Amino acid sequence: MCASVFDFLVSISYPETMAKIKMRAVFRCQQCGHESPRWHGRCPECGHWNSFKEEASIPTANRRGPGIRKLDTKPVSIGDLQSDVEHRILTGISEFDRVLGGGVVYGSVTLVGGDPGIGKTTLLLQMLPRLSQDGSAVLYVSGEESSTQIKMRAHRLGIDDPFLYLLAETSLEAIVQSAQELHPTAVVVDSIQTTFSAQLTSTPGSITQVQEVAAQLMAFAKQRDIPVFIIGHVTKEGAIAGPRLLEHIVDTVLYFEGDRGHSYRILRAVKNRFGATNEIGVFEMTEVGLQEVGNPSALFLGDRSRESAGSVVVATMEGTRPILVEVQALVAPTHFANPKRVATGVDSNRVSILLAVLEKRLGLHLSGQDVYINVVGGIRIDETACDLGVMAAVISSLRERPIDPETLVCGEIGLGGEIRAVSAIDIRIREASKLGLKRCVLPEGNLSSLDNQSSMTVAGAKHIGDVQDILFR
Ligand code: TYD
Ligand code: MG
Repeated sequence: MCASVFDFLVSISYPETMAKIKMRAVFRCQQCGHESPRWHGRCPECGHWNSFKEEASIPTANRRGPGIRKLDTKPVSIGDLQSDVEHRILTGISEFDRVLGGGVVYGSVTLVGGDPGIGKTTLLLQMLPRLSQDGSAVLYVSGEESSTQIKMRAHRLGIDDPFLYLLAETSLEAIVQSAQELHPTAVVVDSIQTTFSAQLTSTPGSITQVQEVAAQLMAFAKQRDIPVFIIGHVTKEGAIAGPRLLEHIVDTVLYFEGDRGHSYRILRAVKNRFGATNEIGVFEMTEVGLQEVGNPSALFLGDRSRESAGSVVVATMEGTRPILVEVQALVAPTHFANPKRVATGVDSNRVSILLAVLEKRLGLHLSGQDVYINVVGGIRIDETACDLGVMAAVISSLRERPIDPETLVCGEIGLGGEIRAVSAIDIRIREASKLGLKRCVLPEGNLSSLDNQSSMTVAGAKHIGDVQDILFR
C-alpha cells in the first residue's frame, strides 16, 4: 500500500524517474533465468559459472504466460471431462514420426536442438512440405539465411513445392503477423537465438528474449492449432541456449546429434508431452539430404572386426526400439602412475564400478592396466543392461581371447558380482536373431519369463564368474 502511494507520488512528480525504476537493469543467469540485482560469478541457483548477463528488466505488463488454451477455473471430476483426442499429421518420414510419438500433434510446439552444422535446417526443410494438407501453405522462417540461400538448398534436396513459403525475418512480431496472414498448416522458426521481440530491449539470444519468443510462439500455436517447430542451437556445454526454461515451456524437445566425422545422425526425444521419451530416429546425411536408416543395428554392427579380442555385441533399448551396438575394450599395461580409464559412449563412473567389481570378485589385476572403452558408432548407452557386455569386453581384451562374434551379452551387474535380470529381454533377443546372431548370454533371472520363439541358443548366468566359463570355454 505504502509502496503504491510512493510510486504514485513519484510518478506524478518525476515521471522519468518512474520510467527508470520500472526499467532498472537486472542481472540474469543465462542458464536457469535466476534474477539478481547484482552480478554473480557463479549462479546461486543453478551453480553455473560466468552465466550472469545484464539485461533490462521486463516491464510487468509485458510478462506473458505461455497462453495455453483457456482452462476451467473450477475443479472438475475427470469423469465429466470430454477427452480430446490428439489430432496428428504423419510426415511420412517414419523415423521422425516415431520420435514424436506417432506424428505431429496439431497446436504443439517442438524444439529441435543440435550443434551448428549437424543438419537441423536440412531435416526440417525436408519434413515441412510433408505437413501440407492438399496443397495448403507451410511456412519456413529463417533468421540465419536469406530466402535465396534456402531456396538453393531446397532445390538441391529436390524440394520445389509451391506451397512452401520462405520468410527471412528475425522480428517476432513480423513473423507472427505473416503467419497469421498466411494461415499455414505448420511453421518452422530457424532459429530461436536469432529471433527477437521488439518489445524487449535485451539482445537476441538472451534468456529473456528466448523465453519471450518461445512463449509467444506457444501462444500462437495453441490459439491457431498449428504445429510450430523451433530450432535452437546448442551451447558449448551441450545444452540448448537458455535450456531449462525453454524446455519447460515447449511441448516436445528433440535433440539432433551425431558425430561430424560420421554421416549418420540421431534424432532423440528428451521431452515429449505426446509420446515416449528416449525414442530415437536414425538418419544418414547424404549429398541429397537426410535419408532414413530403417535398420540401425545393421549400420552400427557394419564394420565390426569379428576376430579381435575386446569386442562384444550388446542390445540397448532406445525408447521402444532395441539397437544392437558393439562395445570395445582395450586393456593394456600402463606407463602412468595412475592408470588411465577412458570411456566414450558409456558413463565413466559406471565403468569404474564395473572394473572394481572385476578386481574384487574375479581377482583380475587391473590396477596396472589402462582401460579404454568405446561404444562404436557414436551412440551412447545409458542402460545398466549393458553392464555385462562392458565387463565381457574388458575380460576378453585382458585375456586376449575373442568372444564369439555371434553372441549377444545382456545383464546388469550388482556390486557382489551377481547378474540381475534386465527388462525387455525378448525384444532384445528378437533383434539379435534378426541380425543373424546365434547365441545369447543373459541373466538367469530372465530365463523363466523368456518366450524364446527365435532360434537363438540362450545361456543363463547368475554370477560374473559363470560368464567367464560360458564365453571363454
Ligand atoms: P544444416 O542443415 O545447415 O545444419 P544446421 O542447420 O544444423 O546448422 O546442415 C549443414 C551440413 O549438412 C553441411 O555441413 C553440409 C551438409 N549437407 C549434406 O551433406 N547434404 C545435403 O544435402 C545438405 C543440404 C547438407
Ligand atoms: Mg541451420
